[in-house]
Amino acid sequence: MKLQTIGKSDLQSSRLVYGCMRIVGDNSNESRQKGKAAIRTAFESGFTHFDHADIYGGGKCEELFAEVLHEIPDMREKIIITSKCGIIGKGNPEPDFPARYDFSEKHILDSVDGILRRLKTDYIDILLLHRPDYLFQAEEVARTFETLQRAGKVRHFGVSNFRPSQLNLLQKYCSMPLISNQVEINIHNITTLLDGTLDQCQEKNISPQAWCPLGGVVYPAWGNTFTSETEKRIQIEFERQAEKYNTANWIVMLAWLLRHPAQIFPIIGTTNSSRIRASLHALEIDYSREDWYRLLEARNGYAVP
Ligand SMILES: NC(=O)c1ccc[n+]([C@@H]2O[C@H](COP(=O)([O-])OP(=O)(O)OC[C@H]3O[C@@H](n4cnc5c(N)ncnc54)[C@H](OP(=O)(O)O)[C@@H]3O)[C@@H](O)[C@H]2O)c1
Repeated sequence: MKLQTIGKSDLQSSRLVYGCMRIVGDNSNESRQKGKAAIRTAFESGFTHFDHADIYGGGKCEELFAEVLHEIPDMREKIIITSKCGIIGKGNPEPDFPARYDFSEKHILDSVDGILRRLKTDYIDILLLHRPDYLFQAEEVARTFETLQRAGKVRHFGVSNFRPSQLNLLQKYCSMPLISNQVEINIHNITTLLDGTLDQCQEKNISPQAWCPLGGVVYPAWGNTFTSETEKRIQIEFERQAEKYNTANWIVMLAWLLRHPAQIFPIIGTTNSSRIRASLHALEIDYSREDWYRLLEARNGYAVP
């Protein structure tokens, strides 16, 4: 597994991150065992960075992960744990409360305590703010980050789904660098290529992480707008490239992400052990500029001007 420094930090992360959003499945015993096997396979395959959020599985994903940490005693020191907070689901704590975002000091501090309790660890390596809270006060968030860092509960900070302007606003008040922006990037959603997010990452040495990297390849992406004609065109190009590189369509997609100069970290979300191992093939592909543009053209339905 290749390693890569995350943003302006001393953290060396595996180039592929393992995403823990799906590890409890339907929370049956069978799904949980499969999830634990997936974590072990990822660790044994060289993944050293695991992505969580307080809301994954309603907290159960972090709890399951803690079981594996307990079973593999030296694992905690060898890995980077990211978790996220800031989203509160509808009906919490009162039935008529709406879904909302909350970056208040109290909410962030309470959320981190919950994350540490569920993961049964004293610290997390990276805390990301999950989705931008339209009401966030940058000074308050910066103060909260300092409190968490001083207490040794969180080592580094970043954001998720932030636009460049939102990141700039928060960074203006933070004493520490924001080291990562975790965003959706896949063949359907290329917003971050166009809205300055990936440019900002390169300019400020912030590591982009790509969530749902396989949306539009092995399942329809969120808010899918592709017509069946577009899907067919993309599929044909994926198949041509898969044959050329002697691999599978979804591995080509990972290679497409890895080819970008912003050094995108794809987050691998499969709970299938053989797919976890196979994902590493993407790191071996010498992916060409021409094929990168061919896939973009297949997606867009027209050539670049
Ligand atoms: N920051 C955010 O807002 C945000 C949002 C969403 C997710 N995330 C993070 O990103 C991570 C990755 O997201 P994701 O799980 O959606 O990633 P993904 O890797 O795009 O998708 C994984 C899904 O695709 C299926 N899959 C993978 N390869 C397949 C194949 N070859 N054929 C058929 N199905 C295949 C998997 O099923 P199997 O398990 O059966 O292989 C699984 O259901 C999450 O775990 C989470 O950590 C962050």
